Amino acid sequence: MSSAGLADAAIDWYDGHARDLPWRNAGVGGWAVLVSEVMLQQTPVARVLPAYEAWLARWPTPADLAAEPVGEAVRMWGRLGYPRRALRLHECATALVAEHAGRVPSDPEALRALPGVGAYTANAVAAFAFGRRVPVVDTNVRRLVARSVLGVADTAASTARDHAAVEALLPVEPARAARTSVAFMELGALVCTARAPRCPACPLRDVCAWRLADCPPYDGPVRTPQRFAGTDRQVRGLLLEVVRDADRPVPGDQLDAVWHDSGQRARALAGLVDDGLLDPLPDGRYALPGHR
Ligand code: ADE
Repeated sequence: MSSAGLADAAIDWYDGHARDLPWRNAGVGGWAVLVSEVMLQQTPVARVLPAYEAWLARWPTPADLAAEPVGEAVRMWGRLGYPRRALRLHECATALVAEHAGRVPSDPEALRALPGVGAYTANAVAAFAFGRRVPVVDTNVRRLVARSVLGVADTAASTARDHAAVEALLPVEPARAARTSVAFMELGALVCTARAPRCPACPLRDVCAWRLADCPPYDGPVRTPQRFAGTDRQVRGLLLEVVRDADRPVPGDQLDAVWHDSGQRARALAGLVDDGLLDPLPDGRYALPGHR
């Protein structure tokens, strides 16, 4: 199968097997795709779905978000995790209003220049919202290409190399290239999974270099899954939740109740303040940023 064959096979499979997800609907604009991609980067689809709908119902355009205090973005982020993404999205909305008349640009370079928008997000928005022919490489796509083309279980991330490898597989026609990218992504998420690939269900099974080589195991550096319980990240989440769920600033002693280890609690609180996720008020209470 040629490289065009890989794209065709992936698209045929996608047409019959893709999940029906709202950010993939025809006509979804740049802002909705940007919001979805930022949310999906570190959070599973099932948790993103309600947050995505609520966010866009409240802020259908970048200008709607930019008009509100950044703390409202932190509040709406809710329990999605990694809440600095909410700060960046608010900052991005503000830049879109200031520099792009409130619209999301279609050019990958212009997207890349926005706050919080990296190579992955820029290319995903350019491809999925605007049909541009650019490689979109998340961990699932990288693994799919490592296996089907290179014959190895996975490779370490390298933006330049990953982009070149995927770019070589994209059809010439931009809309079809964009469809290939979402098809690769879905195939990596549902079939060519990290731990239990479902090769018999894979449309690339007869040409996959990894399968033809009898699925050699991953031999790169060991990846330890991120722990959550007991980490500063968990404590930060608990502290932020109290302030997020309150309708006025919260006294420090109310925060003391969320975690037994006072040293760790103080460190987590200082981190939230440092990151701009919490605002310490002169009277000792804590507010969401931009709320006084
Ligand atoms: N469709 C488009 N982008 C996606 C993503 N990042 N995760 C899941 N589905 C998607």
